[in-house]
Amino acid sequence: MLLRARPGLPVPPPLLLLLGPLGPFLAGPPAGPVQAEVAAELDFSTEPPLHLVSPAFLSVTIDANLATDPRFLTFLGSPKLRTLAKGLSPAYLRFGGTKTDFLIFDPKKEPTFEERSYWQSQVNQDICESGSIPSDVEKSLQLEWPFQEQLLLTEQYQKKFKNSTYSRSSVDMLYTFANCSGLDLIFGINALLRTADLQWNSSNAQLLLDYCSSKSYNISWELGNEPNSFRKKAGIFIDGLQLGKDFIELHKLLGKSAFKTAKLYGPDVGQPRGKTVEMLRRWLDKLGLSARMGIEVVMRQVLFGAGNYHLVDKNFEPLPDYWLSLLFKKLVGTKVLMASVKSPERSKLRVYLHCTNINHPRYKEGDLTLYALNLYNVTKRLQLPYYLFDKRVDKYLIKPSGPDGLLSKSVQLNGQTLKMVDDQTLPALTEKPLRPGSSLGLPAFSYGFFVIRNAKVAACI
Ligand SMILES: *[C@@H]1O[C@H](CO)[C@@H](O)[C@H](O)[C@H]1NC(C)=O
Ligand SMILES: *[C@@H]1O[C@H](CO)[C@@H](O)[C@H](O)[C@H]1NC(C)=O
Ligand SMILES: *[C@@H]1O[C@H](CO)[C@@H](O)[C@H](O)[C@H]1NC(C)=O
Ligand SMILES: *[C@@H]1O[C@H](CO)[C@@H](O)[C@H](O)[C@H]1NC(C)=O
Repeated sequence: MLLRARPGLPVPPPLLLLLGPLGPFLAGPPAGPVQAEVAAELDFSTEPPLHLVSPAFLSVTIDANLATDPRFLTFLGSPKLRTLAKGLSPAYLRFGGTKTDFLIFDPKKEPTFEERSYWQSQVNQDICESGSIPSDVEKSLQLEWPFQEQLLLTEQYQKKFKNSTYSRSSVDMLYTFANCSGLDLIFGINALLRTADLQWNSSNAQLLLDYCSSKSYNISWELGNEPNSFRKKAGIFIDGLQLGKDFIELHKLLGKSAFKTAKLYGPDVGQPRGKTVEMLRRWLDKLGLSARMGIEVVMRQVLFGAGNYHLVDKNFEPLPDYWLSLLFKKLVGTKVLMASVKSPERSKLRVYLHCTNINHPRYKEGDLTLYALNLYNVTKRLQLPYYLFDKRVDKYLIKPSGPDGLLSKSVQLNGQTLKMVDDQTLPALTEKPLRPGSSLGLPAFSYGFFVIRNAKVAACI
């Protein structure tokens, strides 16, 4: 899905791309034996950067269907989930998806028992530090979740969506999760509430804006989810002109509220064409391609909840895609350069080059991060351009771990299985320094990040 900021609205022009998995692990047979072969040469073009992406380039979604039964929003009180989310900051947290247009805010609705028990667990002033879900509540929700998930997936599959309501407590739950995780919340507003003549009925949005202003919440907004498929989902056709009017209406409401300077995104497009289709079809190395094409922000579907391509499972255990996202966040900077493989192998050896993220304490301005994906079923080697032969390189190689091979739910970084130290602590992502001039080995179906230190590339300074 592409979200474009509308011209004329008080927003920078970000492009948001909503995507599925980035891990290549689930796509083929297990890694084959290492074979000696000639390394493929790389070509770098490090002149002025092609594009600049947002520091929130890799962002995440919580599917709005988590609010279908608001009791399950209590999951967002998990300290472990927050720790994982915090790892991906700075990022947007988009609360959206098909269910966006079937959720109605009811300010009079009482919090659920589960939500109440979460708020009651707040023992001191700092809401981010003190709260957690009481463990019996968490356990019983987790036992019920597979049934709820099945229900949501059935709804999605049959394209028959029921309206449901959410309370002030649900909004608090979501906002607190985003704010305590250092993520910027983008809230999708229901665009299917219509008057008899198919104008957008903004009265529910007004209630929501009033409530969020009263709590001084800092939120960005989106109106509707894939309005181009409203006919399929709700039997209503809203044309572009009407949709434009609806956006102007929401813009007016924001202008009259505490959200004067808030960002408004959309309308999003669920049927991309041309170049975009090509990119989506590959669904493998999409982050790199997106950056190269100048897309500023990529939204991963979903951080947590029902749907495909989770980053985190229902027990709040990070999945392989989470670790890839985390490494990406830590190592890849916002300036996009150009790398290519100088051999016919380029179709299955994908390489991308950025300036390194210098928020990483080990790296500094001028460093380069190459990330590479080997879609071959045998090990491949890459050779840096000659002028970088004397540079030290840090390798971060991600492979599936354990006897389950590609179906494994865990991964190894440089041979060490990645797991959380405890609920509050992510593991160190430890590099493996390579000797200057070494070729860069990539086992079958692996993903590697290589930081070229002290590269002193002018475009990265
Ligand atoms: C790799 O794939 C090729 C077909 O593309 C196949 O012939 C070969 O046996 C595979 N090798 C391994 C190690 O899986
Ligand atoms: C908009 O929705 C509200 C709440 O359902 C309703 O009271 C109001 O009459 C609607 N307005 C129009 C113009 O349909
Ligand atoms: C968001 O979190 C910060 C600290 O992380 C806190 O100072 C601020 O008050 C929070 N904002 C709201 C509206 O809760
Ligand atoms: C609100 O959040 C945006 C990021 O989405 C940030 O740029 C802005 O400074 C924040 N505003 C306030 C008043 O904290």
